[in-house]
Amino acid sequence: MKNEDFIYLVENAVKAPSGHNTQPWKFENIEDGIVIHPDFSRALPIVDLDNHALYISLGCALENIVFAAKRKGYECKVGYPEDENGAITVKLNPAATRSPSNEDLFDFIAIRQVNRSKYSDKKINDEELEKLKSSFNFEGVSVVIMNGKTNFEKIIPFIIEGNNLQFQNKQFIKELTSWFRYSKSEAEKTRDGLWTAAMGLPNMGKLIGSFVMKNFVTAKSEAKRLADLLECTQGIAIFVADKNDVENWVKTGQAFQRFSLTLTMLGICHAHLNMPCEELEVRKKLAKELGIENKHPLLLIRYGYADRKMPYSYRRNVNDVIIK
Ligand SMILES: Cc1cc2nc3c(=O)[nH]c(=O)nc-3n(C[C@H](O)[C@H](O)[C@H](O)COP(=O)(O)O)c2cc1C
Repeated sequence: MKNEDFIYLVENAVKAPSGHNTQPWKFENIEDGIVIHPDFSRALPIVDLDNHALYISLGCALENIVFAAKRKGYECKVGYPEDENGAITVKLNPAATRSPSNEDLFDFIAIRQVNRSKYSDKKINDEELEKLKSSFNFEGVSVVIMNGKTNFEKIIPFIIEGNNLQFQNKQFIKELTSWFRYSKSEAEKTRDGLWTAAMGLPNMGKLIGSFVMKNFVTAKSEAKRLADLLECTQGIAIFVADKNDVENWVKTGQAFQRFSLTLTMLGICHAHLNMPCEELEVRKKLAKELGIENKHPLLLIRYGYADRKMPYSYRRNVNDVIIK
């Protein structure tokens, strides 16, 4: 495709979220479209052993590409990966639609962010809930929305159980902190990972930051922090895939991206509490509690209004994610 259009698509794709902000993607310009390749050198083998979160991240980037392509007047046909190492192909047809789409959600790609702060007590109204429930339509993916604390209270023990398992696992902490960027200069240099300022933490520098993580952050302190956050959470959304395979992971990412862009359009913030989905034993118990034992809860999101925006996370330069 035209290089100018290809770059436009990639610029929008990389604004997608990814686990630990690893940005596990590479993009290839082909004659009649674009290919999104997984970059396994950026995988998270401890927290994401089967790469489901990696493919969800690719699904988020894919949805941004679909929005951006439509804005340019292309019609898209998505080819899903056929196996565990597969790429996503988006074939574009410039002749099909002459008039660029004005789908509202495109305008929120650059504004969307994960906001890990405490949310306010402002409630989500019925009209907003309806918009969220109908924000996507992908076969095999659904969302369970529990609006109001009384409705999601029963889910809290699963979040805490997942958290405890992770923070008792030295390998998990090692992997997580290897993606921490403790200062602005470090985040600017790597342009990936979890910049502490974007997580609402003070600028500590690497030395003090790693010392604090090693010595003061425990399963117990994290559980207390999570309980505080849940106290002022307005609702929880759990993304469920009918099948636990690559195609359904990508579609879960697409569904989640549409959902998070809809939240952004409504001015509502969101952040991840995926621990019960990441720990397989807890995931099974969560599915049982939800009455969906044969399905797969893959993402758990809290949402609510917040008084402040957070600093944006960095992204690598487009040139670094293009296959030449
Ligand atoms: C599949 C997936 C899993 C994620 N898991 C978590 C998580 O467990 N905890 C968390 O705080 N953020 C999680 N995130 C959010 C990312 O850390 C966030 O998207 C990334 O740091 C980039 O920030 P941004 O979304 O604000 O641009 C996840 C995102 C995706 C797409």
